[in-house]
Amino acid sequence: MTNLKLIACGMGLPKKVVTNEDMAKTVDTSDEWIYTRTGIRARRFCDEGESNFTMALEAAKNAIAAAGITPDEIGCVVCATFTPDYLTPSLACLLQLHLGLSEDIPALDVNSACTGFIYATTVARGFLDQSDREYALVLGVEQLSRVVDMTDRATCVLFGDGGAAAIYKKSESAAFDSFLGAKGSTEITCGGISREIVPSPLWMNGKEVFRFAVGAMYRCITDLMERNQLTWEDVDHVVCHQANARIIDRCIHKLKAPEEKFYKNMDHLGNTSAASIPLAIAELEEAGRIKAGDKLLLIGFGGGLTWGGALITYGGK
Ligand code: COA
Repeated sequence: MTNLKLIACGMGLPKKVVTNEDMAKTVDTSDEWIYTRTGIRARRFCDEGESNFTMALEAAKNAIAAAGITPDEIGCVVCATFTPDYLTPSLACLLQLHLGLSEDIPALDVNSACTGFIYATTVARGFLDQSDREYALVLGVEQLSRVVDMTDRATCVLFGDGGAAAIYKKSESAAFDSFLGAKGSTEITCGGISREIVPSPLWMNGKEVFRFAVGAMYRCITDLMERNQLTWEDVDHVVCHQANARIIDRCIHKLKAPEEKFYKNMDHLGNTSAASIPLAIAELEEAGRIKAGDKLLLIGFGGGLTWGGALITYGGK
């Protein structure tokens, strides 16, 4: 099967920044409580005129421009999201319409909650393998402010909105591996959505999910490294789902891993579910901290319960 390399990313973030102090004006909480338990200081929330789709469109346009390709070169579009504007058409089909992508390519949404970007990457690899085209457009996008109960302090302080897109290119030589897992569970649930009404908002068993997340992260990293015979010398960046700084720190400690290789951005974006991994890669790219040939471990875990790991190579622009 064809390997992929990631050649460029793009972000689509809402403008409104909501700090912990802002949250404390509406629910009984404090910056101190939120920051010490999660590492989060602020998040973005969509405002009037912004939505899952607008973030996705901006992210996709930025990624296509950064990759220096034209939309008709794209062989598939796969969007990881569980908060789309519409259940149908899918976000992927909306992007196909608005970006002018070819009509004869697969376009679909993947719902694997916070592991979504790893699932979407794996699906895109399968599609590209059967395509004459060279490029895949893969997104992680969430408008979690739409499904969170803003009066429930146990959840509303944790999440944020955002989207990011990645352009993958077929590559014979790039190191690539991915694996996925799931264990059906209702420890994290979210009911149906509409524009105005949330029949049953996002809920989770925080303590159980914390335990699961540390275990899943540890397993994904050790499995990926063993399967690909990697040492820490071979790994340039570890990009984990940005749920909570304490989950990542606990895992670094358990693995005795080099802390500086683990990127964190939940301090200013909160937990953006499927968007968190591509947003983190896009930030690394924007900061000039990632170079052609770098090897990244991507680690996702979350609702489902699902988990997944990917070894990818950054190809540069
Ligand atoms: N501000 C202040 N107090 C809060 C609060 C908030 N935002 N949210 C909950 N509390 C209170 C609780 O009501 C409870 O009070 P009580 O002891 O009087 O009943 C107390 O803080 C402790 O609550 P608890 O839920 O036990 O806290 P915790 O230490 O487990 O931390 C999480 C809560 C959510 C931060 C933690 O469980 C966690 O990070 N879980 C993983 C969640 C996650 O990342 N999920 C996404 C995975 S994809």
